[in-house]
Amino acid sequence: MPTTEARRRGWLITFEGLDGCGKTTQISRLASRLRQADYVVLVTSEPGGTTVGEQIRRILLDVTNNNMVPLTEVLLYFASRVQNLEECIRPALARGEVVIVDRFTDSTIAYQGYGRRLGPALIERLHELLCGGVQPDLTILLDLEPEVALARATHRNQHLDDAGQRQLRMDLQPLEFYARVRAGYQELAKKYSWRYRLIDASQPPEHVEAAVWQAVRGMLEQAGAVQD
Ligand SMILES: Nc1ncnc2c1ncn2[C@@H]1O[C@H](COP(=O)(O)OP(=O)(O)O)[C@@H](O)[C@H]1O
Ligand SMILES: [Mg+2]
Repeated sequence: MPTTEARRRGWLITFEGLDGCGKTTQISRLASRLRQADYVVLVTSEPGGTTVGEQIRRILLDVTNNNMVPLTEVLLYFASRVQNLEECIRPALARGEVVIVDRFTDSTIAYQGYGRRLGPALIERLHELLCGGVQPDLTILLDLEPEVALARATHRNQHLDDAGQRQLRMDLQPLEFYARVRAGYQELAKKYSWRYRLIDASQPPEHVEAAVWQAVRGMLEQAGAVQD
């Protein structure tokens, strides 16, 4: 049970990792567990999360936008993020809720900074300037071989009604691109080790879920928000 005092400040938990690593699966399991423990939980995703964000998302995912330059991509992701922060994330944190975000600035660092080779520094500066220094209390990195992640994502997309629509521009990259993204994430996990938990996402979902829960409980216990 969360204490009233601890709830007032809120927590920001972000999930990171390659498409297909299991973020959506694990976020839904974590949200259920937290709600069972009486926490108020907001789940949101990037890009998207808001009406404006959904429209930005469509531009980003449109396969016909194959001439989009990396910096445009970065700015569109930040436009969606700023909207989500102001409209949803900050108010929920102020109400003392647990906010779980499916991808945050670290995705932009990993994909555009490392994947597209813009470098991490520019994106870190943009985050400082545009996101008012908001930092996650905990970042769960679901680490997985690009080949395995890609196979899982492809399998998942084949079982969606709008499979054609789900083909993202990011899905059309060579494997070396995803290897750079994964290595970028691993760098971030070292650099921001105090908030990062790297979890082996090749394990069965139940094992991953247990590791996620352990990390989240650790964060809540540290904040004095768990009464045993
Ligand atoms: N630990 C796991 N082992 C095997 N398959 C998994 C695991 N976690 C998720 N999946 C499956 O892999 C696919 C991608 O998972 P998903 O949660 O959509 O990933 P993401 O949101 O990171 O793209 C889904 O079909 C899901 O059921
Ligand atoms: Mg997902």
